[in-house]
Amino acid sequence: MEGVRVGFLGVGYFVPPKILSNADLEKMVDTSDAWITTRTGIKERRIAADNVATSDLAKEAALAAIKDADLTPLDIELIIIATITPDMQFPSTACIVQDKIGAKKAACFDISAACAGYLYAIAIAEQFIKAGIYKNALVVGAEKLTAITDWSDRNTCVLFGDGAGASVMGKVEGDKGILSVYLGADGTQHDILKLPAGGSRLPASHKTVDERLHYLKMSGSELFKHAVKIMTEAGERAAKIAGLNSPQEIDCVIPHQANVRILNAVAKKIGIAEEKIYFNIERYGNMSSASTAVALAEAVIAKRVKKGDIILLDAFGSGLVWGAIIIKW
Ligand code: COA
Repeated sequence: MEGVRVGFLGVGYFVPPKILSNADLEKMVDTSDAWITTRTGIKERRIAADNVATSDLAKEAALAAIKDADLTPLDIELIIIATITPDMQFPSTACIVQDKIGAKKAACFDISAACAGYLYAIAIAEQFIKAGIYKNALVVGAEKLTAITDWSDRNTCVLFGDGAGASVMGKVEGDKGILSVYLGADGTQHDILKLPAGGSRLPASHKTVDERLHYLKMSGSELFKHAVKIMTEAGERAAKIAGLNSPQEIDCVIPHQANVRILNAVAKKIGIAEEKIYFNIERYGNMSSASTAVALAEAVIAKRVKKGDIILLDAFGSGLVWGAIIIKW
């Protein structure tokens, strides 16, 4: 429906309390605080307890966002959870979260778009609301990445953490809300970041466990090259679709938090001052689909994003997939 604007009615986030610092990692693998800090920008990350699953993190973030929207779980009509670490292959984590929060009236599904998952989920929710099918949607990016992290692989284990960010979306009045959405994918690169076993290609077996194939595998430097190019192009495309005259009109960039060096390079290429980027990577590492969701919620709660601000969400991840969204807050 032309003319219907969709925006954010409430935001919330949750990160588990346990901190794993770079100093802790120095005791686990051959690495150093100096290497991790200079190569990635990460100082520490959050680790969920053994008995905590992705749905538990999502539940806390969801309840915070629903409260912030002045709604109750029974008001929620659709739940979309973006995750690559669902509680189990099926049922969807969205159904489990529906049960945990008592959102009995909501339709539920998960989407898998890795680190761009939260943006893909926002784009889907926007369409359902615009079409008049649902009045609102709860969108959550939630991950327990430490459950698929190989703690003996220094190339990857220093990068990831656990957390969840949520938003309640709905119709908004005036000129605020989502101004543009740009999504993309390049499946030819599906091999460079993956969880090889546990699906229909390589079902779990003693062999897959012995070969450590239930942990994520990544070609870091390959991804790095793609990331800068993709995030730059996505941000520029979204700004153009939104009709911005120049990237300088963007007040705050809320990017996927993969690496400080990637984000600074992207800002430079797009022509946005580094001070406009919201970083939380130093505290949380890369939380895949939860990264952008937590960053947005934190930035709003900390009043780093204010009413009337133009913000850019910009993310890329395994697939490869990417997305950029311009919002007037
Ligand atoms: N501590 C110390 N040394 C490490 C290390 C660690 N934790 N991890 C890797 N190294 C070493 C490597 O073994 C390599 O040593 P070598 O030259 O003797 O072989 C060296 O550091 C350089 O490795 P390289 O992979 O080229 O480093 P890099 O500058 O590309 O940084 C990443 C590695 C992973 C931080 C970086 O490539 C990156 O951030 N990539 C993108 C990742 C990403 O975005 N992933 C998620 C997608 S959403």
